Amino acid sequence: MIFESHAHYDDEDFDKDREELLGSLAEHGIGTVINIGASIAGSEMTVELSERYPFVYGAVGVHPSEVEELTEEGLARLQSLCGREKIVAVGEIGLDYHYPEPAVLVQKEWFERQLELAREVKLPVIIHSREAAKDTLDIMKAHRAEEIGGVIHCFSYAKEMAKEYLDMDYYFGIGGVITFKNAKKLKEAVQYIPMDRILLETDSPYLSPEPHRGERNSSLNLPYVAEVISELKGISYEEVVEITERNARRLFHLTDQLQEK
Ligand code: NI
Repeated sequence: MIFESHAHYDDEDFDKDREELLGSLAEHGIGTVINIGASIAGSEMTVELSERYPFVYGAVGVHPSEVEELTEEGLARLQSLCGREKIVAVGEIGLDYHYPEPAVLVQKEWFERQLELAREVKLPVIIHSREAAKDTLDIMKAHRAEEIGGVIHCFSYAKEMAKEYLDMDYYFGIGGVITFKNAKKLKEAVQYIPMDRILLETDSPYLSPEPHRGERNSSLNLPYVAEVISELKGISYEEVVEITERNARRLFHLTDQLQEK
């Protein structure tokens, strides 16, 4: 079944129909969901969702756009949430230079601190990097992120950058953007990235794929993403679903026989 590696079902966009929507995923072929925290409150809610739904696992962390809320106390809280049974990663963390705030130095500091948190609690990371390719890579190298492991969420850089992350043994989260007509560079990168490094993701409620671009996104749209990957890779849709599920289970250590990392 489809493994959704990145969704924000704690988002208020789902307040009206969260239960109904999550309850309907299995009958549409979505087998597992990783809910991703983007703030302290979102991380708390991620833990709640993971405790409520058997097929939901979670990542806790503070998104680069939200790091101004972080304090020593907040970081300690994240660390304690990392110990909850179904929390399988630290994220999403990283750098986002699209907007002028928060200041670069503040983003860098909390990115580094959360990378070190992941190392300490021995969980992989979910990296958010927008318009910050070089700084993201520099910090990851300085912190030996290849020893931590993880996924570059919503990978949107070109092939050259994909090579850097492949060398660090990272995974690549591919979502709705791959269905956009203007995603030429990303399509080239996906052709280049080996199939055993690709994860399916939506970033719900954001980044809806064609033909639903601009609407609220949900995991129900993942077949559109898998379809485009199958065309680009010249393999069947079923193979895309199966391989990406296996990849995600390997990264997040979700079954005994797949704990090969
Ligand atoms: Ni996200």
